[in-house]
Amino acid sequence: PKVIFSGIQPTGIPHLGNYLGALQQWKRMQDEASPDTRLIFCIVDLHAITVRRDRGLLAQYKKEMLAAILAVGIDPERSTIFYQSSVPAHSELQWILSCTASMGYLSRMTQWKSKMSMAEDQELMDKKVLRKLKHGLFSYPILQAADILVHRATHVPVGKDQSQHLEFARECVTNFNAAYGGKHLVYPETILSPQKRVMSLRDPHKKMSKSDPDPSSRILLTDTPSETTTKINRAITDTIPHISYDPDSRPGVSNLLSLLSHFADASQTPQDVVDMINSFDEVTSASEGTRNAAAMKYLKGKLAGRINDELGGVRERYAAIMGRTERDGGEYLREVVEFGGKKARESAEGTMEIVRAAVELGI
Ligand code: TYM
Repeated sequence: PKVIFSGIQPTGIPHLGNYLGALQQWKRMQDEASPDTRLIFCIVDLHAITVRRDRGLLAQYKKEMLAAILAVGIDPERSTIFYQSSVPAHSELQWILSCTASMGYLSRMTQWKSKMSMAEDQELMDKKVLRKLKHGLFSYPILQAADILVHRATHVPVGKDQSQHLEFARECVTNFNAAYGGKHLVYPETILSPQKRVMSLRDPHKKMSKSDPDPSSRILLTDTPSETTTKINRAITDTIPHISYDPDSRPGVSNLLSLLSHFADASQTPQDVVDMINSFDEVTSASEGTRNAAAMKYLKGKLAGRINDELGGVRERYAAIMGRTERDGGEYLREVVEFGGKKARESAEGTMEIVRAAVELGI
């Protein structure tokens, strides 16, 4: 049977990148899944503590992410929704996997290498930098592998930035199965989200991210229609008269084209959107000097409208869930993750029995 698993960091209210890269895809998979397919969605609070935050923030971010997942339409009866830390088997399997995982492979992971390069710039890992780098960041991919493997996931929907972590998870299966002679763990397949990486609206060379200090660089699921329109209108583009899709040389316009193609109709490519815009009278009849402005006006207006149409229902449901949370002191959200946590512990326990027996752990 198919087991779909995915995870998301509790970074608070999701932005458009989280929505298109993950949540929308989860919802689609849930709707299309056959009855015997299991779906498991995890809010990875253990991964989140690789970054230090002010007290109270993690708890708030977890609740906001949970409310957003529900608002998008992930159904806690149909799918298992839970906090990673409620299922100790994730951490247990992480340790066990770390005993067959290769240091060399882990040091080649881009996320780690980007941090390490800071150290190399300063003439070979001077002690100050090494002290700042934490082991949790290094072993992050092993915990991610454990998340997936402990539920015997067969399909893992993620954005492209996660494909290296997924390859590593498969490497963990190979290493573990070889070390303990048997098909104990299951190979997970990567399901790449059709949406290209959503880029920042203010600097299209960076990905849209929660940690960007400029709030106008991202659209949050809870932004009002007018906030959304303002942010899209202020998005950095360029002044080249003819509109075209070219992510390398025109990252700003291309980001908007890619977003519109995704919101308009999944079968439309960014190039289809370009062709459509270039066929409008307002655009074809514009002079060379005003053509770019006419095309951008159309593109931005259309995109803001589509985002507002699609997110309207999500925003309403999010506000309703948050209102309920205020009234009931968080009781409803707690019930959802307690129920999900229980289902997830049962799911993980089956694998842990196999693993403990293979490794000769327990009694
Ligand atoms: P995270 O929380 O950074 O992102 C969650 C998902 O959203 C996608 N994504 C994006 N897609 C398009 N454009 C963007 N700007 C954008 N930002 C994020 C990501 O590709 C991802 O699919 N390590 C993972 C969490 C994790 C996990 C797992 C995922 C932990 N354990 C097990 C899958 C399976 C992460 O940090 O994702």
